[in-house]
Amino acid sequence: MPRPRLIIDCDPGHDDAIALIVAHRHAEVVGITTVSGNAPLDATTANALMVTALLDADTPVHRGAPKPLVGEPAHAAAVHGESGLGGVARIAHARRAASDDAVGFLLDAADEALWVVAVGPLTNLALALERDPSWGRRLAGISIMGGSTDIGNVTRVAEFNTFADPEAAARVFDCGALLTMCGLNLTRQLRSNDALAKRLRRADSPLAQFAAQSFDDLHDRIEGLTGVREAALHDPCAVLAVTHPELIETRRQAVSVELEGTLTRGMTVVDQRPHTPDGGAARRGADAPTANVAYTIDADEAMAVVVEALGVESDA
Ligand code: RIB
Ligand code: CA
Repeated sequence: MPRPRLIIDCDPGHDDAIALIVAHRHAEVVGITTVSGNAPLDATTANALMVTALLDADTPVHRGAPKPLVGEPAHAAAVHGESGLGGVARIAHARRAASDDAVGFLLDAADEALWVVAVGPLTNLALALERDPSWGRRLAGISIMGGSTDIGNVTRVAEFNTFADPEAAARVFDCGALLTMCGLNLTRQLRSNDALAKRLRRADSPLAQFAAQSFDDLHDRIEGLTGVREAALHDPCAVLAVTHPELIETRRQAVSVELEGTLTRGMTVVDQRPHTPDGGAARRGADAPTANVAYTIDADEAMAVVVEALGVESDA
């Protein structure tokens, strides 16, 4: 299969950084766009630039939205640190953002062979749709790390990326593009632990050392929050949905984003009712599907792909 062409819209973030590494190993990454999310826009942009330096990749980084469509920015310093990449040694480099116009870059780059992998709040994508409502349909597809078919991680039911900009998420989920949703129900199945961090530390690979530092920091913070030294590798799942679709099982279902609920704002409401062929009046069928909703991942194989992308031999 030819290497897919993609743009990654991200808010690095440790798992965003691993997603960038996996994407550069298995796809033609034509650009990176950054958004406020795990950390403020300046930080997520600086982190994306640092990862391109770590990769020695000439991938352009375009700055995007500093805040959501409505309200003020939400960040995740408790998980990723104030910098967005807590615990990771900074890499010196002289790289600068290619532009401050992530939305213009997303619009100009759109064609039927281009995927957009969105692993942060969906503000940039929503702004692109505001300028061109057909944009999503002109892409090969949009693979999203966001939402959940079950519980949330910011509220009982809302996941961070959709919670941070619900209006943007609603616009993207309604845009008519070929959508894949990798929600928390899926991404929690791909987990890092201390054994993995130890294995990466032993590897003679700058990418593996970066990842080991990332996992150590994530595990320290998450242990403080939950008592467990593990982290879900959320964002790489959305890349694997494009580069290794055979590893992820999806179902065609309707997905909408709640905007009004006091307890449910930012929730992805997934219609899991069975489809009835005729949807007859007597038996209310499911609403027309709008996304490929991911439910299971071959976590062992997926982790093998991630570890190989980090420069670690399979038997190491
Ligand atoms: O809820 C997980 C998502 O929020 C991931 O994209 C992580 O990087 C954070 O942005
Ligand atoms: Ca992210």
